[in-house]
Amino acid sequence: MYSKIISCGILGIDGYIVEIETDISNGLPGFDIVGLGDTAVREARERVRSAVKNSGYEFPLKKITVNMAPANIKKEGSSFDLAIAMGILASSGYISQSAVQKSMFAGELSLDGEIRPVKGILPMAVCAHQNGIRYLFLPEENAREAAVVKELHVIPVRDLRETAAIINGEIEIRYFEDAGGEKGPVYYDTVDFADVKGQENAKRALEVAASGGHNCLMLGSPGCGKTMLARRIPTILPSMTFEEALEVTKIHSIAGILPPGVSLVNTRPFRCPHHSISDTGLVGGGSVPKPGEISLAHYGVLFLDELPEFSKKALEALRQPLEDGVITISRVNASLTYPARTTLICAANPCRCGYFLDEPGKCTCTPRQIQQYLAKLSGPLLDRLDLHVEVTPVKYTELESDKAVESSLEIRKRVERTRKIQLERYRGLSIYSNSQLQPAMFSKFCRLDKKCRSILKDVFERLGMSARAHSRILKVARTIADMDMSEEIRPVHLTEAIQYRSLDRRVWNL
Ligand SMILES: Nc1ncnc2c1ncn2[C@@H]1O[C@H](COP(=O)(O)OP(=O)(O)OP(=O)(O)O)[C@@H](O)[C@H]1O
Ligand SMILES: [Mg+2]
Ligand SMILES: [Zn+2]
Repeated sequence: MYSKIISCGILGIDGYIVEIETDISNGLPGFDIVGLGDTAVREARERVRSAVKNSGYEFPLKKITVNMAPANIKKEGSSFDLAIAMGILASSGYISQSAVQKSMFAGELSLDGEIRPVKGILPMAVCAHQNGIRYLFLPEENAREAAVVKELHVIPVRDLRETAAIINGEIEIRYFEDAGGEKGPVYYDTVDFADVKGQENAKRALEVAASGGHNCLMLGSPGCGKTMLARRIPTILPSMTFEEALEVTKIHSIAGILPPGVSLVNTRPFRCPHHSISDTGLVGGGSVPKPGEISLAHYGVLFLDELPEFSKKALEALRQPLEDGVITISRVNASLTYPARTTLICAANPCRCGYFLDEPGKCTCTPRQIQQYLAKLSGPLLDRLDLHVEVTPVKYTELESDKAVESSLEIRKRVERTRKIQLERYRGLSIYSNSQLQPAMFSKFCRLDKKCRSILKDVFERLGMSARAHSRILKVARTIADMDMSEEIRPVHLTEAIQYRSLDRRVWNL
């Protein structure tokens, strides 16, 4: 007998309908799955066979053929188990085919028929809804994730027997009721910019970075507070729209990193991978493709602490996605893309001993060593960094002072306001922030008057700035003017932007 069950595959960050056709006919007993499954799908055969038997059904001793359509896309993962088992039950008459028409099934089976959680449930739920499916049968652990799609009936199931019993009407359906769900991780409660004493310059630079979405490099000696400052960036990032939150959650769902009980990631992600990370870990890919850290940080911040410790290959791999906002991974049969629109924040010591920026005499490096060290820094990524900030150690008096320090909340309010100005200005242009400005747009949005032009010319000639610094300065000056709610870029805005280009100033005149 023939049956058709609907399940869902994942390509990039979107789900696509997979039809599981099962045919049981007389012939030599056998169990074949066709449709380009990978090893996991082949293993599904063994799990499904045991799960069906151990749930008390007779496994048909006939010729079983399972076809997973569309056949031209390579399917991955164990989430098809439940649908394949349902196909066998339908084809052997244990459940009625007509009862499962508007349903999708997703879940991994254990050998005794229990249903285990899978990755990527949110994109599956979105796909189900878009294709007119009304019921989604899924592992209990994944129910909250799917419940974000309000129009869908989410049915959590524990094992194969229970699933069949629900379909046959032997036990009552229990829809998942979302009791609000836990919010995603909240950073505001634990850390605050008010914890950081002094460092006004660095805080200002990070506010500029957050306001315009600019990539930023912090340079400073050990213990001066670079890591501490970076960890507080999430507390000043503007809030996400629902659409943004949905996209971020989809990526986290596919990567399987949604914390239990969290239905929607609604604060901007902050990712800080260790420097031993591989290039695939950072940008994504691998034999079973997975989003990398840069995609997990989509719409948020990717923080690379101790930048020179990262492998050259990994940093090299970041260039293309940083530029394009997406990462494309080529596969045998298809290529897939993950979104990667992130703000990159890096921290590094200015030299090998780390004290070059502190009081004279403390640094023990030779000029040659410093130059070598900086050459390493300035390799592939420097081009992509809009702001360079020098972080100097806090003075003892500042540490001791109990002067009120501005809180993250106050800073965040300003950041929100500046982002709004940009959103309105770039409406219909498919860019969202000043960091995304293209050179062709400069004449329209980053006009400089005569005074500003002469400042810039002077700086270029006197400090020997590179051409690449030019566009970075313009974008940052645009953001600083926006923070000041000024339509035109004034000399104060421009000079502040120039000040954030220390690495272009021929590296501290060495
Ligand atoms: N401005 C500051 N206000 C309050 N505490 C500070 C400040 N700067 C540093 N500290 C203290 O010093 C500790 C070390 O700072 P942090 O780890 O951020 O330094 P770092 O610049 O990242 O150093 P490294 O280069 O060694 O990684 C912090 O955990 C904090 O306790
Ligand atoms: Mg540190
Ligand atoms: Zn040094």
